[in-house]
Amino acid sequence: MAHISIVNSTKKSWNETDAGLIAVGIYQDKKFTPMADAINQASNGAFTEAIELGDVKGKTGESHLFYVDGKRILLLGLGKKDKFDSNAVQLVAGTVSRTALHKKIDSVAMECFCEDCEHCQSCGEGLVLGSYQFIDYKTGKDDGFILKSATVLGCDSPNVAKGAAIGNSVCFARDLANHPGNTTTPSRLAEAAKEIADEGGMKLTVFDREEFTDMGMGALAGVALGTDEPPKFIILEYMNGGDAKPKIIVGKGLTFDAGGISIKPAGKMDEMKYDMCGSATVLGTMKAIAALKPKINVVCIVPSTENLLGAKAYKPGDILKAYNGKTIEVLNTDAEGRLILADALAYASKHYDPEYILDFATLTGAVLVTLGHIATGVMGTDDSLMNKIKLASKSSGEKIWEFPLWPEFCKQIKSDIADVKNMGTPGQAGSIAGGAFLKEFVGEDIPWVHFDIAGTAWGSKTTSVDPKGSATGWGVRLVLDMLNS
Ligand code: BES
Ligand code: MN
Ligand code: ZN
Repeated sequence: MAHISIVNSTKKSWNETDAGLIAVGIYQDKKFTPMADAINQASNGAFTEAIELGDVKGKTGESHLFYVDGKRILLLGLGKKDKFDSNAVQLVAGTVSRTALHKKIDSVAMECFCEDCEHCQSCGEGLVLGSYQFIDYKTGKDDGFILKSATVLGCDSPNVAKGAAIGNSVCFARDLANHPGNTTTPSRLAEAAKEIADEGGMKLTVFDREEFTDMGMGALAGVALGTDEPPKFIILEYMNGGDAKPKIIVGKGLTFDAGGISIKPAGKMDEMKYDMCGSATVLGTMKAIAALKPKINVVCIVPSTENLLGAKAYKPGDILKAYNGKTIEVLNTDAEGRLILADALAYASKHYDPEYILDFATLTGAVLVTLGHIATGVMGTDDSLMNKIKLASKSSGEKIWEFPLWPEFCKQIKSDIADVKNMGTPGQAGSIAGGAFLKEFVGEDIPWVHFDIAGTAWGSKTTSVDPKGSATGWGVRLVLDMLNS
């Protein structure tokens, strides 16, 4: 595990800690945070001098290293005070961990910048997320520097530990996704679900190929025909909310997508190890639930297989029958994510009476064209659910953008010879076609939203809390925010 997993909090001040790097702050109006003020006085105005020389402005993203009383002090620019919200705190905390890693310092402490510990959760999240590295396969002796401890000074809020638990769960999702297809297999996802179930007192059910095929999950079974790696249909139930209806989260667990017989081009095909990021999001969320034990009912479903080209592989033109009885004409075996999700959504709709269903999937290359790595494309059937998601997006800082599921789009996935086909009109509105297809498998009247995370799940630009290029764990923070509202 190449990240810190615990963040301590203590009422102690900067001169009572032996952390190797101590972070304090200054706002853009040159006003110091309380500990920065104390250090400035103790150092006979070291910060004031730097301000007078014009080096310290207090702008967002600034960081300056000072040495005071034998301690390394990182003075961070916090920007405008009225804009210094939870998202800003998370980024600043991430910078603290990143700076320590960069300078090979293994312990950090940062001041609690809140008036009332209102941002302390973000502090815990940012410190953990910024400390994340994926170095499990590096064998050189200089490759393994990791951060060992982090502390928040000047407060002892339990929100710090809560944030750290959430940060850990995001890192857990990143690890699942960053490990390649020969490590993160469907069996490995089932094992991860078992670890979560044990930790959180959850019920785990795993159906294997024979079981889900016999049960009538013809779409998942169809996709799985091309691989010898055992596919799994994984269900985790966390019931700690009395008789409230369960909230259901579904994640695409396609552990490697070669495209099947409609094979993908070789360039960048390696990236398709990330095609299980939807499952990473929902398992990461369950991991946080296991740690935090909120009073809610949540069911997590992960259909998982590879999409390969074995001798028995399904073919363009084949017709599959999904768990809800609908028939699907397969026009492109590379549109496999919607097929395995079809059975998961139909299963969720039949066996539960959910408050709502959310699904997460790296479903279409088209969403990357539309929204880049910046935002997740969302679409659904219920305005009030969508509004809640928009609020959770704002407060978590994980950006979404809504696409319309208008009837004109929904018609495009009707087939001439089966109920539906697994593609819309070629070259047009591809992400919406994916959503329109999935809608066919959600029970009538169940509020549902689909998250197409193909752009956001990996490869986003680096911030202090986002790793460069690799898996981001997108969605864990937004969903946790959502589940608790
Ligand atoms: N896993 C891919 C989507 C994807 C592509 C994610 C590129 C990230 C980057 C999905 O299974 C897929 O192949 N979708 C096809 C659908 C098409 C054949 C209708 C796509 O987007 O090209
Ligand atoms: Mn595909
Ligand atoms: Zn895929």
